[in-house]
Amino acid sequence: MEMLRAKVPDDWLPRMLANLPAVLVDHAHLERKAATTAITLERYRDLFGRVDELNAIAIEELQHFQLVLALLKRRGIPFAQPHPSPWISGLMHAMRKGMRMQVIDHLICCALIEGRSCEKFQLLGRELQSHDPELAAFYASLVESEGNHYATYILMARAIDDAETTRRLDYFLDLDAELIRQPHDLPILH
Ligand SMILES: [Fe+2]
Ligand SMILES: [Fe+2]
Repeated sequence: MEMLRAKVPDDWLPRMLANLPAVLVDHAHLERKAATTAITLERYRDLFGRVDELNAIAIEELQHFQLVLALLKRRGIPFAQPHPSPWISGLMHAMRKGMRMQVIDHLICCALIEGRSCEKFQLLGRELQSHDPELAAFYASLVESEGNHYATYILMARAIDDAETTRRLDYFLDLDAELIRQPHDLPILH
């Protein structure tokens, strides 16, 4: 994700490694929300023609959700309540609601979530290799799929309005960089 304007903060990886069971529960919810979000996007008139692609993403995310649930089960970690993410709610609050162009903002927010997931799964895949090879392989196996979701959502937005997507992407990339730097100590991926 070379277009992202801020690096993942240095305290993120140690926080993930110190809280792996909670991180896996958070990850399960992230995949669940990714599946429902893909279906939610189908309500926009501008995306009626993309319903098959969005369903394919929803199915893939649901499969990821199942894979994380299976991991939780194998490790005896109970599925539990999600922690809200200040970064995700910060992005979502900036969506211009009730306007025709809401669809562009919604797609860009989804793309940034997918893009940051792709980036963070890559870091986890690399970092976990030495002490949790199963988890390392699992995270590495998700990188390509989340990267494709990122690209698909950006392309969907550009197909609706290229200039508006460039403008709003500029805005949301600044917002992402600002939000990701805000410190917190929650055991959540985002
Ligand atoms: Fe996923
Ligand atoms: Fe995804």
